[in-house]
Parts: sequence; structure tokens; C-alpha cells
Amino acid sequence: MTAHAVGKPDYSSLDLPPPPPDRPYVLVNMVMSADGRAVFEGSERGLGSPVDQRLMRELRANADVVLNGAETFRVSGSSPRLGDPALEELRRARGKPPVPVGALLTGSGELDTSRLFFTARDFEGVVFVLETTPEAKRRALEATGRKVVELPPGETIRALLRYLRVVMGCGVLLVEGGPSLNGQFFAHRAVDEYFVTIGPVIVGGADQLTPVRTPRPFSPERAPRLTLLSAVANPETGEVYCRYRVSYPA
Ligand SMILES: NC(=O)c1ccc[n+]([C@@H]2O[C@H](COP(=O)([O-])OP(=O)(O)OC[C@H]3O[C@@H](n4cnc5c(N)ncnc54)[C@H](OP(=O)(O)O)[C@@H]3O)[C@@H](O)[C@H]2O)c1
Repeated sequence: MTAHAVGKPDYSSLDLPPPPPDRPYVLVNMVMSADGRAVFEGSERGLGSPVDQRLMRELRANADVVLNGAETFRVSGSSPRLGDPALEELRRARGKPPVPVGALLTGSGELDTSRLFFTARDFEGVVFVLETTPEAKRRALEATGRKVVELPPGETIRALLRYLRVVMGCGVLLVEGGPSLNGQFFAHRAVDEYFVTIGPVIVGGADQLTPVRTPRPFSPERAPRLTLLSAVANPETGEVYCRYRVSYPA
């Protein structure tokens, strides 16, 4: 049933179907301006209100793993933390660790290991690299104590999904961008639900990132299709919180 409500949705306990055998159930979460831009003055930080941030953390409460692309990590850092003991308690009651596993995907291995993702010990972290990642970079990542997993270059996203599901037992993956990473998940037909907050600002520009970046546009026959599951308008923040189910034409 589609809900058009006013206020704030509650994303902390989503009713999600079981994952397929070869990959997790995949959620993508983004915030964008009312003209569809995913970056404002160099990052996503100016786009979402504290309510949007809260929804991001509620979504994390459902996830076994939270994944970012390396560029998002370099720009904004990356953390799967919930920032709320009540949300952590909710997870414990479901038999899950209080904080999901944090994950990064990089080819270059250019990640600042002094950042919280590598130094925090209240959550597990895994860094996915390629066989082409320079050995010295890989060793520096391993020296942080974070798990480092090598993926094959051609089939990276499929291999990543299989590893998460089969080796790590991940049932729900939350992808928190950026746009290039999201684009690959959509291109692999591996996004099940898309959450997007529409913020009350116009960013403009000619080549600004939108929430999904692919080398070429999808053809109308192949484009992922969305079914609106809920849309909640917040008069206080001016934001609209949308939740879609994603399907892919045969
Ligand atoms: N509005 C929002 O909700 C939101 C959310 C997140 C991010 N953002 C913004 O989005 C921007 C970053 O997005 P982006 O699209 O440029 O980058 P991104 O998707 O965050 O990261 C791209 C990087 O991830 C690694 N990567 C991605 N696919 C890979 C693959 N198949 N194999 C190996 N490595 C792979 C590569 O890292 P290496 O370069 O290390 O090889 C690549 O350069 C930032 O400005 C951030 O603020 C906005």
C-alpha cells in the first residue's frame, strides 16, 4: 500500500523480504536537491536536515553491512554508526550486533587510515580492493586491523555481492553512495529498494552529480522502474522522504 503522509516516516524496522541466495537484499539511500543534485559545495552535507540524518541512521538499523565508495569516504568519511542507543537496542533484540559492519570499495587503495572508519573499534570494518590495488596500499589498510578482501576487476560488483551474502552471511546491504557506486548496483540490477530524500534547495550547475551515475543513460527498455512504497512530506524541514521498490524490465 502506498502511504502519502505528513511528518517523518519510521524506517527503523522495515518489513523486508528474505534475500536471494547469491546476494543480499539491497537498499540504496541518498539525499538530493529539488533539482536532482547529489552534491552541494563539494559534498552531500548541505543537502539533508537532521531529520534526514536520523532516517539514514534508522535505515542502518536494518542493515547487516553499510557500503560506501572510496570517493565518498575521501570526501565525507564513512561510518555505519547509529548514534542512538535505542536503535542499537533494537538490533540487539533482533540478534544482530549493535552496529552494522562498515564496508568500503576501492581500486586505488587511496584511503586515509587515520580516519574514524579505521580507528574505531565499536564496529567491524571491511575494505574491498582489487588485485590491481598497489601492494603497499593494501598492506597499509591491513595494518589498521580492518579486514581486506580482494575482488576480481571485471566482475567486481557481482563478486562483492556474492562475498557479502555467502561468506559474510549478509542479508541486508545498505549502499550509501556515492553516485558511481550506486550506478553500478543499478546497472547490475541489484538494487531492491531506493530511498531518496528531496531537499528544498536548487543547486544548479551543468555537470553536477545526481544520485545515480552511469557511463551512459539506461535505454527506456532497460531502465530500472520504481514503484512508490511511501512518500512522507515534512513541512518543518521542507523535505520529502520517498521509498521505492525497484524492478527491472525483462
Ligand atoms: N547526496 C548523497 O546522498 C550522497 C551520498 C554519498 C556521496 N555523495 C557525494 O558523492 C560524491 C562521491 O561520489 P562518486 O560517485 O564520485 O564516488 P563514489 O561512488 O563514492 O566512489 C567511487 C570510487 O569507489 C571505488 N569504486 C567504485 N566502483 C568500483 C569498482 N567496481 N571497483 C573498484 N573500485 C570501485 C573507486 O575508488 P578508488 O578511486 O579508490 O579506486 C572509485 O573511484 C561525493 O561528493 C559525496 O559527497 C552524496
